[in-house]
Amino acid sequence: MKPIIAANWKMNLTKSDASNLIGHINHAMNDIANIELILGPSHCYLDLAATHLKRGVIAAQNIAEFSGGAYTGEISAQMAKSCGAKYALLGHSERRHVFHETNEMIQKKLVLCNDNGLIPILCVGETLEQRNSGQLKTVINDQLDVLKNSAQVYFVAYEPVWAIGTGETATPELAEEVHAHIRSVVGDGVPILYGGSVNASNIKGLLSMPNIDGALIGGASLKSDEFSDILKISAALERKKS
Ligand code: PGA
Repeated sequence: MKPIIAANWKMNLTKSDASNLIGHINHAMNDIANIELILGPSHCYLDLAATHLKRGVIAAQNIAEFSGGAYTGEISAQMAKSCGAKYALLGHSERRHVFHETNEMIQKKLVLCNDNGLIPILCVGETLEQRNSGQLKTVINDQLDVLKNSAQVYFVAYEPVWAIGTGETATPELAEEVHAHIRSVVGDGVPILYGGSVNASNIKGLLSMPNIDGALIGGASLKSDEFSDILKISAALERKKS
């Protein structure tokens, strides 16, 4: 399996900034063969990214829990797909904590991904409080539960809430412990990405772990030089799994 590098641009960049960054990524990817790149721009740049990203695929950062209709400001799975998305992030911690998304809402979104040919990347992760009070596995299991009985192809991203945007990454060993647990629930063949303050200095250690198949990267994916370094470092890693 090639390392999977997914960029989550969140609510950042103007249209011209986005264009420039795609240009940088295209340049970096010229010399790289051994990477699956997934780019998650804002919805308003999905089409732009799908048109201009030369080697990689596009993810929507979210989709609505409804298939369509009178839901002002929302973007349906079908709309994201028609603008070039192949994947959709579901249940990102900012969606769960800032926009109060529940597992029930996420389950509806999973069905809509399936109906519309989008591959979901289900994000799971615990807060520091949940970790410190011994609830880590219960929280992760509850979040993974939405996948129960799902026949569709999906990815999982483990993103401890305390590590997102804080500069505090889980150590490779700590992340691997949770990835191994997730693996025991979802089985082989499901790519599991790690996210939370991933950067050019820690990517190598994280991707060296047996159950970490790739990374979901926020802040560092907005910095052209650092993101190019991340792509290069990841591409150079020997993956033992196939
Ligand atoms: P970060 O964000 O890399 O800025 O911590 C990761 C994410 O939220 O997906």
